[in-house]
Amino acid sequence: MGHLNFLDATTSLLSLFLFITVLVPSQIPFGHSGPDRSSNFTCIESEQQALLRFRDSLTDESNRLSSWTGGDCYSWKGIGCHRTTGRVVKLDLRNTVQPALHIFDPSYHSTPCLAGQYLSPSLVNLTNLRYLDLSLNNFSGIQIPTFLGLLKDLRYLNLSDAGFVGEVPHHLGNLSHLRYLDIGVLSGNIIPTHNNLISKDLGWVARLSSLEGLFLNEIDLTKAQDGLLAVNMLPSLITLHLESCGLIVPHFLQVNFTSLSSLIIGFNQFNHPTIPPWLGNLTGLQDLSLRANYLGGKVHDTFRQMTSLVDLDLVGNSFDTSTLRSICNVSSLTSLDMSDNQLQGSIPSEIGRLWKLTGLYLDSNMLNGTIPSSLWELTQLQALFVQGNSLTGELSEHHFAKLKELKRLDISDNLFSLHVSSSWVPPFQLQYIGMGSIKIGPRFPNWLRTQKEIEQLNMANAGISDAIPGWFGVLSNDPGGIILSGNKLEGSLNSFISGSLGNLGELISLQLSKNRFDGKLPPSMQNLKRLQFLDLGENRIADTIPAWIGERLSDLEFLTLQTNNFHGGISNTLCQLPHLQVLNLAHNDLSGSIPHCFKNFTAMESTKPGTFEFNNSYLDPVLRNFKAGIELEYSKNLPSVKSISLSGNHLVGEIPDEIMGLVGLQTLNLSKNHLNGRIPKNIGNLKQLETLDLSMNELRGEIPPSLSSIYSLSSLNLSYNKLSGPIPSGNQLQTLNDPSIYEGNIGLCGKPLLNSCPADESPTENGPVLDDKGHSEFDFSWFYAGFGPGFSVGVVGVVGILQFKQSWRYALFKCVENAYDGIWVMIGLKTSRLRRNFH
Ligand SMILES: *[C@@H]1O[C@H](CO)[C@@H](O)[C@H](O)[C@H]1NC(C)=O
Ligand SMILES: *[C@@H]1O[C@H](CO)[C@@H](O)[C@H](O)[C@H]1NC(C)=O
Ligand SMILES: *[C@@H]1O[C@H](CO)[C@@H](O)[C@H](O)[C@H]1NC(C)=O
Ligand SMILES: *[C@@H]1O[C@H](CO)[C@@H](O)[C@H](O)[C@H]1NC(C)=O
Ligand SMILES: *[C@@H]1O[C@H](CO)[C@@H](O)[C@H](O)[C@H]1NC(C)=O
Ligand SMILES: *[C@@H]1O[C@H](CO)[C@@H](O)[C@H](O)[C@H]1NC(C)=O
Ligand SMILES: *[C@@H]1O[C@H](CO)[C@@H](O)[C@H](O)[C@H]1NC(C)=O
Ligand SMILES: *[C@@H]1O[C@H](CO)[C@@H](O)[C@H](O)[C@H]1NC(C)=O
Ligand SMILES: *[C@@H]1O[C@H](CO)[C@@H](O)[C@H](O)[C@H]1NC(C)=O
Ligand SMILES: *[C@@H]1O[C@H](CO)[C@@H](O)[C@H](O)[C@H]1NC(C)=O
Ligand SMILES: *[C@@H]1O[C@H](CO)[C@@H](O)[C@H](O)[C@H]1NC(C)=O
Ligand SMILES: *[C@@H]1O[C@H](CO)[C@@H](O)[C@H](O)[C@H]1NC(C)=O
Repeated sequence: MGHLNFLDATTSLLSLFLFITVLVPSQIPFGHSGPDRSSNFTCIESEQQALLRFRDSLTDESNRLSSWTGGDCYSWKGIGCHRTTGRVVKLDLRNTVQPALHIFDPSYHSTPCLAGQYLSPSLVNLTNLRYLDLSLNNFSGIQIPTFLGLLKDLRYLNLSDAGFVGEVPHHLGNLSHLRYLDIGVLSGNIIPTHNNLISKDLGWVARLSSLEGLFLNEIDLTKAQDGLLAVNMLPSLITLHLESCGLIVPHFLQVNFTSLSSLIIGFNQFNHPTIPPWLGNLTGLQDLSLRANYLGGKVHDTFRQMTSLVDLDLVGNSFDTSTLRSICNVSSLTSLDMSDNQLQGSIPSEIGRLWKLTGLYLDSNMLNGTIPSSLWELTQLQALFVQGNSLTGELSEHHFAKLKELKRLDISDNLFSLHVSSSWVPPFQLQYIGMGSIKIGPRFPNWLRTQKEIEQLNMANAGISDAIPGWFGVLSNDPGGIILSGNKLEGSLNSFISGSLGNLGELISLQLSKNRFDGKLPPSMQNLKRLQFLDLGENRIADTIPAWIGERLSDLEFLTLQTNNFHGGISNTLCQLPHLQVLNLAHNDLSGSIPHCFKNFTAMESTKPGTFEFNNSYLDPVLRNFKAGIELEYSKNLPSVKSISLSGNHLVGEIPDEIMGLVGLQTLNLSKNHLNGRIPKNIGNLKQLETLDLSMNELRGEIPPSLSSIYSLSSLNLSYNKLSGPIPSGNQLQTLNDPSIYEGNIGLCGKPLLNSCPADESPTENGPVLDDKGHSEFDFSWFYAGFGPGFSVGVVGVVGILQFKQSWRYALFKCVENAYDGIWVMIGLKTSRLRRNFH
C-alpha cells in the first residue's frame, strides 16, 4: 500500500523500537503510568514538585492533568518512572485527540490540548528524563525553551505541531544522547497549532551524534544552506524528514549517512535540476520522497543499487519516460508515484518488472498509446491511478482478469473505452472507481452491481444513455460520493432513490447534473440526511422546491438546481440551511419574491471557508459556477466558495436588505428577473464580493456609493434596469470602466458613460480611502497568525483555474510563496497524498 500504510507500519515499529532502544537500554524496568502494586518505590519529592510547578505553568481547560494531584507521581497520567529508582523517565503529554485533517475544520477549537505561554524550567529537575513528548498542544507563539538543552538524558524529544515559533535554540545540540528529535510539522497536516520555526544555522544538529531520527518538516532553513552538511555528520541517522524547508540540497563529495532508510525531502530546492548522484550511495533506502523539487533530466543508474527501495515518491517533478524506464529495474518497489511529471509516449513495458507493486500512480502526465500488457500482470496492485493522460484503447474483462487485489482505480480523463459484457463479474471489489470521461455507455454498467465496497464512484461524462437501474440504489456499502454528471441518464430519480433507500443514506455528495432526469424529486430523497453537496443542475426536473430540502437536509453546503423546471415560490423552509454556502437556482421558472430569511444562511455570513468534508472523499466534487460571466470549475478550493445565483427566473419585489448581511458572499447574481425597488444602500457591506450581476431587472433609484468600497469587486453588471443619477466613482469602481455594465439605464450619467451629469449632480468620490492595508491580497501574515481572519480577494478565481492547470501549480508554488496559491497548492498536494493512500 501507499505511504500511509507504510508510515503506519513504520510508526508502530518505531514505537516498539523506541520502547526497546530509548527506555530499556539501561535496564529500566519501565514503570507505566498507573499504580503498580508489585513495586514499592515512591517518586523523588523534588521531581514531584518540579512536575507540579510544570503543571501550574500550563493551561489545562480540558482537565487532562486531573490525576496530577496528591498520591504519588508514578500514578499520574503521562508520567513514566524508573521501577527501582522511582525517577521520572518519561513525560508523554502528546495530545492524543486526533487533529482534523484540514485547517478549516471547526473541531480544532474543541481539541482538548494543553496550552501555555510559558513552560516552567522546573522540568530540568527531572534529571533522568529520557522521553519528552509535548506534540499537538498549543504553546501558541512561544519559543522552544533553551533549558530543554539541559535535559542531558533525553533520548526522545517531540515538540511537533505544538505552536512553537522563532529560532530553534542551539542548546538542543547539547542533547548528546538524543535518538529522535521531532520539532517539525506533521506531514499532510495543516493545523493551526503548527510550529513556525526557523533555524539559521544547523550546526547544532551535528553535535547530536546518537541521532537516528530527525524530523524538521517545514522549519525554515532557507538561511541554513549548509544544513545538510551538518546532517552529514550523523552516521547513525536512519530517518530524515526535511519537507518544505526551503533547503537547497547540495552535492556531497562524500555521504556519511549511508544507514539512512527513510529520506523525505520534498518541497525543497535542489541546486541542480537533476537527481544528485550521491543519492545512489544510500543503498539501504526504503522510503524516498523527492516530491515537488523541480527535478528532471536523466537519472542514469542512480537507482541501480537501491535494492531495498520500497516506496518512491517523485510527484510534481519533470521526469520523463526514460526515468520511469530505469526505475523499472528497482524490483523491490511496492509503491511508485510519478504523478504530475513529464511522462510522454507510452508506459514502458518494463513496468511489468515491478512485480511487487501495490500502488502505481502515473496520473497527470502526457502518456499516450495503450497500456502495455505487462502492467495488467501486476497482480499485487491495490491502487492504479493513470487519470489525466491521453491513454487509448479498449479496456475489457481480460485486462482486469488478474487484478484481484485492486481497491482503487482511476482511469478518468483518458481516451479509453470500457467494453465488458453485461454479465462480467470483476475479480476485484473496488472502493474507489474513477472512470470520468471514459466511454462506458450507452448501457448503465451492470458489473457495478457486483461491487460491494464502493465508497466513491465517478462516471461523469461516460456516454451512458440509460435509466439508472433500481439495484443501484441498494449498492452494498455506504458510498460517500457519487458523480454521474454529464451523461444522458433519463427517467425519474425515483428509479433509484425509492421509500427503500438502501444504503445511500450515508451519501455526502451526489452529482447528477447535465442529464435528462425528469419528473419530480422523489420524497425519499429527504432520507439522504448527510448530504452536503447536491447537484441536480441542467436536467428536466419539474417540481416545486420541496420543503424537505430545508427541513431535512440540514447539512447541505452546496445546492445547485439550475436550469431545470422548478416553479413556484422560494419558500422560507429553504432558510433552514445554516451551512449553505452555494445556492444556485438560476434558469428555472421560480416566481414570487426573495425571502428575507436568506439571512439565516449563516455560513454565508462568515468570511471563513466552510467545512466541506473532503477527508473521506478523495473524489473531489466539482462545482460549476459563473463568475464574471465565465463558468468556472471549483474543486479542492470548494470550501471557500460562497455564492447565490437566482438569475433567469420570474422573481419580483425588492432585493431584501438582509442579504447585505451575508458578508462572506463572493458572487451575487440576481440578473434576468423582475426585481424592483432600490439597490440596498449598504451593499458595500459585501466586502468579499467579486461578482455582482443585477442586470435585466427593474431596479430604480441611484447606485449606492458604498458600492465603490468593495475592493474585491471585479465583475459588475447593472445594465438594463431603471437606475438613475450619477455613477459613483473612485476606488474599485474606477477599474470597472466598461460602459456596457451600465447601459440600458436611461437615467444614469457620468463616467464611464459618455453623457456627463448636470453640474449639481457631479459624481461623488465616496467610500473609505484605501489605507496601507486596503489591498491585502498578498498579505500572508494571517496565515501564520493562525488562520484567523478570513480569506481576502482573489483566492478563488486564481485557484479555480489552477486546479486544471496542474503544471502551473508547482511553478506557482515556487514563485509565490507568499500568496494564497501557495496554501492551496500545499493543501492540494498534501491532502492528495493522504487521501490517495488511505487504507
Ligand atoms: C520493596 O522494597 C524492599 C526494601 O527496600 C525491597 O527489598 C523489595 O525488593 C522491594 N520490592 C519491589 C517489588 O521492588
Ligand atoms: C529544583 O529542585 C530544587 C529542590 O527542590 C529547587 O530548589 C529548585 O528550585 C528546582 N529548580 C527548578 C528550576 O525548579
Ligand atoms: C492557541 O492559543 C492561543 C493563545 O492562547 C489562542 O488564541 C488560540 O486560539 C489557540 N489555538 C487553538 C487552535 O486552540
Ligand atoms: C511526534 O509526534 C507526532 C504527533 O503526535 C507524531 O505524529 C510523530 O510520529 C512523532 N514523531 C516521532 C519521531 O515519533
Ligand atoms: C549548551 O549549548 C549552548 C549553545 O549551543 C552552549 O552555549 C552551552 O554552553 C551548552 N551548555 C552546556 C551545559 O553544555
Ligand atoms: C563524516 O562523519 C564524520 C564524523 O562521524 C566526520 O568527521 C566527517 O567529517 C564526515 N564527513 C563529511 C564529508 O562530512
Ligand atoms: C559513493 O560510493 C562510491 C563507491 O561505493 C564512492 O567512490 C563515492 O565517493 C561515493 N560517493 C559519495 C558522494 O559518497
Ligand atoms: C536494467 O537492468 C538490466 C540488467 O539487469 C540492464 O541491462 C538495463 O540496462 C537496465 N535498464 C535501465 C534502464 O537501467
Ligand atoms: C505519443 O506521444 C509522443 C510524444 O509526445 C508522440 O511523439 C507520439 O506521436 C504520440 N503517439 C500517439 C499515437 O499519439
Ligand atoms: C431564521 O433564524 C431565526 C433565528 O435563528 C429563526 O427564529 C427563524 O425561524 C429562522 N427562519 C426561518 C425561516 O427558518
Ligand atoms: C473523517 O472520516 C472519518 C471516518 O469516516 C470520520 O469519523 C471523521 O469524523 C471524518 N473527519 C471529519 C473531519 O469529518
Ligand atoms: C449570472 O448568471 C447567469 C445565468 O447563470 C450567467 O449567464 C451570467 O453570466 C452570470 N453573471 C455573471 C457576471 O457571472
